Order: sequence, then structure tokens, then C-alpha cells
Amino acid sequence: MTTAAFCPSSTSTDRVSHTAEGFADVLVGLQYGDEGKAKIIDALAPGYDVIARFNGGANAGHTIDTPHGRIALKQLPSGVFHPHATLYIGSGCAINPWKLAEEIERVREMGVSLDGRLHISARVALVQPHHIAMDRQGGDAIGTTGNGIGPCYADRALRMRNDTRVNLMLGDLLGNETDTVVAMRDIFTRMINADGGASPWVAEMSDLLLSLPKVATTLRRYVQPDRAWLANRVRSGAKVLFEGAQSVLLDVVDGSQPYVTSSHTVPAHAYVGGDLSPKYHRRIIGVAKAIVSRVGRGPFPSELGGERSARYCHAASMSHIGKAEEQMRFSAQSLLRSTDPLDVGTALRMLTDEYGTGTGRPRRIGMLDLGGLRDIIKAHGVDCVYLNKVDCLTHYAHSPYQGVPVHVHRDAAPGDALPEVQIYPGLTARSVTLARDGTLDAAMSGFIDFVERHIGAPLAGLGLGPERASLVLLDPRPPALVAQSDSHVASHAGSHV
Ligand code: IMP
Repeated sequence: MTTAAFCPSSTSTDRVSHTAEGFADVLVGLQYGDEGKAKIIDALAPGYDVIARFNGGANAGHTIDTPHGRIALKQLPSGVFHPHATLYIGSGCAINPWKLAEEIERVREMGVSLDGRLHISARVALVQPHHIAMDRQGGDAIGTTGNGIGPCYADRALRMRNDTRVNLMLGDLLGNETDTVVAMRDIFTRMINADGGASPWVAEMSDLLLSLPKVATTLRRYVQPDRAWLANRVRSGAKVLFEGAQSVLLDVVDGSQPYVTSSHTVPAHAYVGGDLSPKYHRRIIGVAKAIVSRVGRGPFPSELGGERSARYCHAASMSHIGKAEEQMRFSAQSLLRSTDPLDVGTALRMLTDEYGTGTGRPRRIGMLDLGGLRDIIKAHGVDCVYLNKVDCLTHYAHSPYQGVPVHVHRDAAPGDALPEVQIYPGLTARSVTLARDGTLDAAMSGFIDFVERHIGAPLAGLGLGPERASLVLLDPRPPALVAQSDSHVASHAGSHV
């Protein structure tokens, strides 16, 4: 069975081939964000013509290693460093124009031109100074990233406030720059007047407004007013990969309100926010990670240390305790041997570098929740899954768990709140290294089989290290076989990307 039947796998030789009409695949994170989606997109990009964003904005973030150094991008779609790929930012996004112009400039300084490659829907919502100020003032209860995304989407739905238009889109800025700047200034001024002029961000926000005309000049050449642009590309053969920001468990409706982001993150929304008819949909690719993490507040059933971990991480992020401070205070190796799950979680965070990309916040750490993944995969019809950070699971061998603790499906009788935890034994350093003939050892093959059975979907790839070369592509089995299988050991051949 080849990968092509279920999920795409790409190598540099797997270039796009044009058929009469193209299609779209949707890639989403299946947990709470930060699953390593960009790394998977980087591997799959050669198989697509267009990489498109459909939700979120500067609250997302991915770090990319390039021949010119490391760069953290927030709003540009992944695939920037694949010159053949066209990039699209759909109308479902909430764009910070200042930060976007800055990203474009930084990429240009690295020798990558986006002229003719980047298209931004004229209908993307603009994050405005008052959105950022409101989010910084009121976002702590949820633990938002403070990028103004929630207030921006709220204003999009509100449309007008006190007779003033508050949903301003990129097309408005470029079509009528003066009025747009005046409108933004008015709303911000009203907000600070209502606060008694005490906003600590007045100077910063005034600077933003002053620099808006320059930003508009940078963005002008990328704006795409044609709502059928992507559809026309697909009709003439383009293959599109939609890149979800945040993740399914943070969806504004589907997630655990109010501890969610403010956009729709579920795969079905790709076609609304990405400006394409669902008629062109082909398949859904999920990305999960073996060491689960969550930033901000909200339920996290498999969290190591439960509520205590949530409280510790919240307090740490409030007092700006991050990676450096934890490295100074704690010994990861001693914490790993502790019988307290909170300590094991802290050790795993330190050993596997789980700190916010944009904010540096310590992420809450949890066990791999296969039962939770199964529910999400079923609900959203996910066709295959890439599992990142599988190599990090070997740390558990040095903990009192002596194997990998996983949550499996809770066939919960009503009132049965306790999730079931199983220990998967035997994963060693050898298990996370490919043999010369490209195979994985029996423990890892067994683990793949175990995971597939519990989540009810085939694994298409495993991340066995941070480097690009350590993504191992698998030949996924048909979903029907995965569902039926009950054998613990399967032989999986892997290949490096
Ligand atoms: P907001 O999206 O900034 O409004 O934040 C709402 C919630 O979503 C907070 O818990 C954030 O930490 C979380 N969140 C937003 N973006 C990301 C992301 O890219 N990765 C992980 N969590 C995120």
C-alpha cells in the first residue's frame, strides 16, 4: 500500500503534476496548538502549488531553520522558503498589518521575494490598536497571547460601534487610507478617554497609527481583491494545502469555552476562511505531538500534575518565569525521577523545550491522550496523522512510570471521571533511530500499531527529532485495517524525508 492512497507524503522528487482540475487538502493540529505543523508542511510543500491560511493571525507562530538562519514567522503561511509555492492569506484571518509588513521585510532581507507569490484577501480583518490594547487589558483571564485577535473578530461581527465602522479590512485600508487611519484613531481615542486617558499603551499605539501609511505601501502589492482567485487557481489545476493555525481543541465553538481562541480552527472552516468551495476538498491531515502541551488556561485532562501544574504555569507566565529561570532553579534529571507527576511534567518541559514561541511562557505538559485524539479524529474525519516528538517519549523510561503513560479511550460510564492510563513499555534510544535498512525496531513498530489502534487512524509520519531529516514517513495502512487490527507488533518500514 502506498502513502498516496490515504495521505500525501512528499520528497523533493515528488513535484506537483497538473491535472485538469486541482484539489485542496486541509492540515490541522489535533491538540492545543504547537504540535509542529510547520515542520510537516515543510515536508509536504513540494507536493502543493499553494499554501493557504484560513484563520488566526499573529497569535500563531512557527520557527523555521533556513540556510540564512532561524526565523520566527507568525502570519506568513509556512512554505515561504519553498520558492515554487504560492502563498495565500484568506479572508478568515485577522491580520496585524504592522507585523505582517515586518515579516515580509525580514524574509526579503533573507533573499526571498514574495512579489507575485503572496496574495492576501482584501477581506482579511485588520487588527487595530484598540484591539491590542483591549486584549492586553482583559486577556489574562483566558491567558490569550495579547495580539488583539479576539477583539478584532468581535468587531468584525459587531460591524459598527457608536455609529463608527469597526470592522476594517485590508481592502478598506488600501482603498481609502486616510479614512481608515482616522477611523482607527477615533476608536482608540474614545477608548482611552473612557479609561480616563490612563492607558499605558498610548504612545505605542500612536506610533502604530503614524506608521500605517508606510505599512499600507508595503502591503499594497500583495492584496487580492478577487474573491474567486483561489477557486480559479484550483480550476486550472492547482493543488492547495490549507494550513490551520492554533488547533482543533481551541476552536471558538467546538473547544472548551471560554478557554479557546476566537477563530474557527476545525478543518471544515478551511473553505470558509480560505475562500474556496468545499467541492474541491480531498483529505484532512492531522498533526499531533507525543508530549502534549497547552498554553493559557482551560481543561487539559491528561495534564501531568493536573490543577497544580495549571496554577504553577499560570503564575510563572504572569511573573515572566520561562526557560532560563527554570533551568537555573531545577535539575530536570532529578525531577524526572520524582514520584510527583507535576515534577515529571516540569522535567519533560525542560528536556523537550516546551516554552511558548512568541511569549516564552512555560507550557503545561500532559501525557499523550489517545482517547482524546480518537474523538477528534472521528468527529472531523481526519484521514491520517503525523505524530511529532516521538523521540521525547524515551525520557519516560527514566521516570517512575518506566514506560510511556498514555490515556486511552474512556468508555466512560456516567460519573466515571477517571481516565484510563496505560503504560507502553520498551521504547529506547534505539527505537527512535532508523536502522540502516530504513526500518524501525520492534518496540517502535509495536508502538505505531498501538497508537493507530487507539486513535482509529493511520499514522503517516513520525517526528523523531527536531531536524528536518528526522521526520520519518510511514506507509499508512487503510483506515479500515487500522480499525480492525489488534496485533501489537507490526513491521513498518520508514524513510527519511
Ligand atoms: P488568543 O488566540 O491570543 O485569543 O488566545 C486564546 C487562547 O488560545 C490562549 O489560551 C492562547 O494561549 C491560545 N493560543 C492562541 N494561539 C495559540 C498558538 O498558536 N498555540 C497555542 N496556543 C495558542
